[in-house]
Parts: sequence; C-alpha cells; structure tokens
Amino acid sequence: MIDSKPILFSAVQPSGQLTLGNYIGTIRHWSKMQDDYECLYCIADLHALTTLNNQTFLNESILDTIALYLACGIDPNKSIIFIQSHVVQHCQLNWILNCFSNFSELFRMTQFKSKKNNNTINQTNLGIFTYPILMAADILLYQTNFVPVGKDQKQHLELVRDIANRFNFIYNGIFTVPVPLIHKYGSKIMSLLEPKKKMSKSDKNQNNTIFLLDTEESILLKIKNAITDSEKPAKIYYDIEKKSGISNLLDILSAITNKKISCLEKELEGMRYSEFKNILAITLCNFLSKIKDSYLYYRNNTVYLKEVAYNGSIQARLKADLTLNKIYSKLKFLTIS
Ligand code: TRP
Repeated sequence: MIDSKPILFSAVQPSGQLTLGNYIGTIRHWSKMQDDYECLYCIADLHALTTLNNQTFLNESILDTIALYLACGIDPNKSIIFIQSHVVQHCQLNWILNCFSNFSELFRMTQFKSKKNNNTINQTNLGIFTYPILMAADILLYQTNFVPVGKDQKQHLELVRDIANRFNFIYNGIFTVPVPLIHKYGSKIMSLLEPKKKMSKSDKNQNNTIFLLDTEESILLKIKNAITDSEKPAKIYYDIEKKSGISNLLDILSAITNKKISCLEKELEGMRYSEFKNILAITLCNFLSKIKDSYLYYRNNTVYLKEVAYNGSIQARLKADLTLNKIYSKLKFLTIS
C-alpha cells in the first residue's frame, strides 16, 4: 500500500525532564497529528550529548521520554517512535551535509551564540556548533514535509531548508524541502519568573519551570509565585510586551483548556491576579495528573518501552536507507553488488 499522507518529523532531547513548555509547544500537537500525517517521533539522544554532564543517565532519560510520549497520546501503531542513535544513517547523512554547509551559516545561529557567550569559544564543544546540521540530517533523511517546532527552532529550520535547496540544486531534487508548522498560541511558554525568556528544562532556577511530573504542591507554589505586574487596578488581558507574565499564564490556561485567549479574558474579567492563579493552578494540576498516571503506568513497563523503540528503529532504518542510497548514488560513491 502506498502511504500518501504527508510526512511529519519531530524530536526532543532526552536530557532532563520534559517541561510544560515542551508539552504545550510541541508534544501536545503530536497526538492530534497522527491521523493526518505519517509521523516520526524521534528521541534525539545524539543531540543530548552536546550538554551532557555526569548527572545525566541517558538510558533512564530515554525510557522516561518514551513513556511520556505514550502518556501524551502517541500511538506506536500509528506513528514511528525511535531513538536517534539506533538509526546510524543520521550520522552518515550528518557528515555528508557538513560538507554542504558553511561555517558562517552556523556561526549566525542565535542558539549557538547564546550558548557560546556563557563560555569562551575554546571551551565550547563542537557539537553545540554543528548541532543544526545533525537536525538537518534527522529531518531530510525521511523526506519530511512538515516539522512542528516552537518559534525558537525556526532559524534552525530555515537552515535545514537552505541546505536541502542547495543540495537539490546540485543533485536534482533529492530532498523534500520541509516546512515548519508553528502554532499561533502557546507555541512558546515562557519562564514563570522571567517571562521574557523561554521556559527551559535547564534553567538554574527550578521555580521558572513546570515539569510535567512535578508534584501538585510544587505546581501550586510555582504558579502562586509566578511574576505578574503592578498595573493598578489589576486587569487580566493579553499583552505580550506590557504584561508578559499575565500573558504567559493566559497562554498556559488557553492551551490546557482549549479555550481562546479572548474567551478567557472575558471569563476572568474583574478577577484578582491571585484568583486567576488559583484557577490556573487547579486546572493545571488536574490536567497533569492524568498525564502523570499514564506515564507511571508505561514507565513501569521497561520491556514494553524497549519493544516500542526496537520496532520504531526497524521502520525508521528502512526509510532512512532509501534516502541514503539515493544520495550515495548521486555522489558517485562506489557501490559493490
Ligand atoms: N533541537 C531540538 C531541541 O533541542 C531537538 C531536535 C533534534 C529536533 N532534531 C530535530 C527538533 C529535528 C525538530 C526536528 O529541542
């Protein structure tokens, strides 16, 4: 049977715990997409090496991530769930694409710039620099049509498109040029205490970040302490510039209730910030407790999780080989047999 659905590829790194930001920005959309697209959901363990420290147990984090994918509604009978390092073709294509990318293109990447600034350049590992080319390999290997990404990954996607177009120009249309799918609301959840920066799992201050598996007490406290503003009289409405804290909380509530921001603004009219926070915290706890129960169910079944990853890697490898073989042939690598 020929599968004519468009191909969708996405990945998250298995480092650390998934956050509410990961869920709302990315994973939430994944389960809905399974019927409309042929989906590949990858666990980017090779990418995680760029920020490895001796506290990281990648094997455990990978199992955590698969369990969370399943808990968030990704169905291994509909989608391919696999681990990046299990499909060696990613590294093969990575090298080839390195040779079709420019130093200056990578040097421009804002994510590289922000990571590099904290260290000095000669202490920065090369993986942080070449990271977007491995992303390009991930995506292009599967002739991906769409990549659901948060706004922060948009620049990387642009680079992937540039590389694909460059390669296609020389070698006659080998790659499908992927298009980013960016969701209008809630695609970027911000940090709770510094709502001008993105919510991140690696934030030093854990009060900035809600993790999907946080306890109820912790969620209640983090929301209670989230920064708002001192507008008098206090008013709840969406204004990303002037009211970044309140707007972020509205984004979160909108994502987990599926209600439009304008509708929430009406419902919350006249409320104090503390009342709004209360509603948000309770709604969020209920919402996350369902995911948490399901997560624990899967996480306790390691055999099943490994089976899912094993089956996924077999399917992914078959697809990856199709693209890689075409490229080898275009590059005039010698084939024997
Ligand atoms: N870079 C992404 C992140 O840090 C993870 C990732 C790796 C990815 N490969 C990808 C995302 C390909 C989309 C497509 O979250």
